[in-house]
Amino acid sequence: MSEQLQAIRGMNDVLPSEIGAWQHFESCTRELLASYGYEEIRVPVVERTELFKRAIGEHTDVVGKEMYTFTDRGGDSLTLRPEATAGIVRALISNGMLRGARHKLWCLGPMFRHETPQAGRYRQFWQVDVEAVGCAGPDVDAELIALGARLWQRLGITGLKLEINSLGTPDSRRAYRAHLSDYLRGHESRLDADSQRRLGTNPLRILDSKNPEMQELIRGAPELTEHLDVESRDHFQTLCAMLREVGVSFQINPRLVRGLDYYNRTVFEWITQSTGAQNAVCSGGRYDGLISQLGGDGTPAIGFAMGVERLVTLLTAAGKAPPPPRPDVFVVVSGEQSAAKALKLIEGLRTQRPRLRIELSFGGGNFKAQFRRADKSGAPLALIVGEDELARGVVAMKPLREQSGQTECPVGDLAPAVDAALALLAHPGGAPAG
Ligand code: HAM
Repeated sequence: MSEQLQAIRGMNDVLPSEIGAWQHFESCTRELLASYGYEEIRVPVVERTELFKRAIGEHTDVVGKEMYTFTDRGGDSLTLRPEATAGIVRALISNGMLRGARHKLWCLGPMFRHETPQAGRYRQFWQVDVEAVGCAGPDVDAELIALGARLWQRLGITGLKLEINSLGTPDSRRAYRAHLSDYLRGHESRLDADSQRRLGTNPLRILDSKNPEMQELIRGAPELTEHLDVESRDHFQTLCAMLREVGVSFQINPRLVRGLDYYNRTVFEWITQSTGAQNAVCSGGRYDGLISQLGGDGTPAIGFAMGVERLVTLLTAAGKAPPPPRPDVFVVVSGEQSAAKALKLIEGLRTQRPRLRIELSFGGGNFKAQFRRADKSGAPLALIVGEDELARGVVAMKPLREQSGQTECPVGDLAPAVDAALALLAHPGGAPAG
């Protein structure tokens, strides 16, 4: 036997048994985003490598270690997108959509990062990415955060904590970076290998270290919030006041720095305790400098992305995933001559009742085997289309989940008879009130 093909490590299939939870998450999200005025945008999965280098930063883990980069047949260096913000900004610029305009956009799709796979951390993962472009004030920051809180509430996901911080302006961050580097250099022997490497390239990321042995050192580090410029401090204080006003609880985490270089001022993360080390389910922040850095008209913007796998896991664990859909009707066909006629009859029923879920028992087989399939399908009602019934111009109906007997209806009345039978099975005591 030839060797079985396996999926690529860290890249998962989403199976039919799981898709209900995904679709539920997606439809709730779509509906909520539309109600806040966000429009969907779809951008390519592949972009020029240069875009991600310039947007995310050469010294980030994402660009330095995790990108799926290849040379295409034309000799261009291309990369599978590790995130969506850079591509959306590129789309706004290349489609001439800026020029003072405001855009509220969202995008769903797979992202690719060559990380070490573990529960909640994959090499292909899905994000819903949300971007508000053209507004500089803390009001849009607060609304975006409130949108997230409302989504968790609608999905029935509890126990998420919101952490926020301000990174200030590039100037204030530069000044802070100098203070932080001095402090860390003073303790260089206590830095782990990763942090020693980061000290020269991206010392702020050392604050994000998950190494327990580094925590004491990190706790003693100077805090970013104490080195903010006046405007950033005002922006942050107003944001905090607005969040309190709308009743969104939060915690200020002065060590929240994020792993992508484009952020300034507001950054935030929604975190859970229940998925182990991979605890961020939604993260983002403001990126007022990115659009001009990529060649567009200077435009402020803020956004976030949700990790779909992580949220679907929480949704399922909370028992909020809808049960898998089952057919309404299962059609048992008896006698070889009946197959074509049954197909025609059922296609007619589908035309009359487009929302009905109908499954046909293909390939015949004896009655017993077909009824076993009918039972397994979960349908409440079987239709029996046999030579005998067709000769008499009727179809037989049999409830599958209860003992009541078989009935018949004229072929011409099939649609209303199915409606009535299904209504009776759903509400055995009679029609529901109202
Ligand atoms: P990020 O923090 O890199 O931000 O990713 C956002 C979310 O994607 C994370 O909170 C997490 O839930 C999920 N995620 C990230 N990496 C993985 C992975 N390897 N496996 C599973 N889930 C993962 C961004 O991507 C920014 N573009 C967010 C943003 C939009 N900022 C402004 N606008």
